[in-house]
Amino acid sequence: MALKVMAVFGTRPEAIKLAPVIDELRQRDGVECRVVVTAQHREMIDQALNIFEIRPDADLNIMRPDQTLDDVVCRALAGIAPVFETMEPDVVLVQGDTTSALAMALAASHRGITVGHVEAGLRTHDKAHPFPEELNRQMIGRLADLHFAPTEIARDNLLAEGIASDRVFLTGNTVVDTLLRLSTEIREPVDDTLRRIDFDKQRVILVTAHRRENFGAPLEHIATAVRQIAEEHADVEIVLPVHPNPRVSAVMRAALANVERVHLVKPLNYSDLIWVLARCYFAMTDSGGIQEEAPTFKKPVLVMREKTERPEGIEAGVAKIVGTTVYRLVGAASDLLNNEGVYASMRARKNPYGDGHAAARIADILLETLSDTARKL
Ligand code: UD1
Repeated sequence: MALKVMAVFGTRPEAIKLAPVIDELRQRDGVECRVVVTAQHREMIDQALNIFEIRPDADLNIMRPDQTLDDVVCRALAGIAPVFETMEPDVVLVQGDTTSALAMALAASHRGITVGHVEAGLRTHDKAHPFPEELNRQMIGRLADLHFAPTEIARDNLLAEGIASDRVFLTGNTVVDTLLRLSTEIREPVDDTLRRIDFDKQRVILVTAHRRENFGAPLEHIATAVRQIAEEHADVEIVLPVHPNPRVSAVMRAALANVERVHLVKPLNYSDLIWVLARCYFAMTDSGGIQEEAPTFKKPVLVMREKTERPEGIEAGVAKIVGTTVYRLVGAASDLLNNEGVYASMRARKNPYGDGHAAARIADILLETLSDTARKL
């Protein structure tokens, strides 16, 4: 009997990182791979599904404007119940640390279905940073049966928490698989603003911010810093894709709508985002994904957070944690812009996040561990 795998996700980053796993599973004999989206995000997930040509088998369509974390959990749990009944998966795959991933791991655990966690073991050990992602990933760590750790540090975090070593697998991060596939077919950007910027003459900084712990004053500081950096450097253009969350977009638009050389653009589709990352001078971000993507393109990253669960980039020297005060943000950006030595020292030598074969390893492990006899751990 074929192994029934259900990949479930709700936001764009999960789609990006599960796409190669879904692709790989669909090419294997003895596997039936179904895709379910919670659609915690509507536009952003649809964009990603289009790029990766994934057609979901079920769509819970849970997103509401200004949803709370409780809303996401409640609607996802209620929505998935009938889907489990009809599809009867042997294993449910979740990715990362979103509230959708937590809700789906919980629902599967309630039914005794094996849970596989892709990108397991990232930790800051601080529940407030990033919030609620650190909580989510720790809780998923308790619920999961198979833990696919992207790096040695992540694997060691899981082992230190007492998870049995035969349930923890070092696979690399699937985002590298995705980037390598996409970069062979880099298309011209669809975004008009990106097409107008002269990437040869100007130095471009990519800025993204959307984390909950940065809502309020930190986001305002980030906006002020962006304005100052643009004003102080005539050869700099800033590309800032504005996250659709109203608590982010209102602040960015109020502070930056008419600042020269600051381009507030709609959330970029993933291939446009990668296009900018490959051509920018450096990135300033609170996103976890961009911290992992930048080393593939040897781009320095200033991390606009207090802590990161991705210390590998810091150790490799490609990323620096700069917090969210105006003084530190402007200082760190100016250092990179004005000092070639600092800039050169931040270009990573080796990609610490993977080799592009993570999805194949995950598929192998699923087939080996969940063969007919091993099923239902
Ligand atoms: C979520 C994840 C975060 C991930 C991010 C990627 C949680 C707790 N957080 O954060 O880890 O990095 O997604 O983007 O799961 N919205 C739209 N259209 C969209 C997407 C969002 O209108 O396509 C708006 C909605 O008003 C929604 C709000 O954004 O209510 C916030 O979305 P939500 O999923 O609650 O949190 P994110 O900050 O996006």
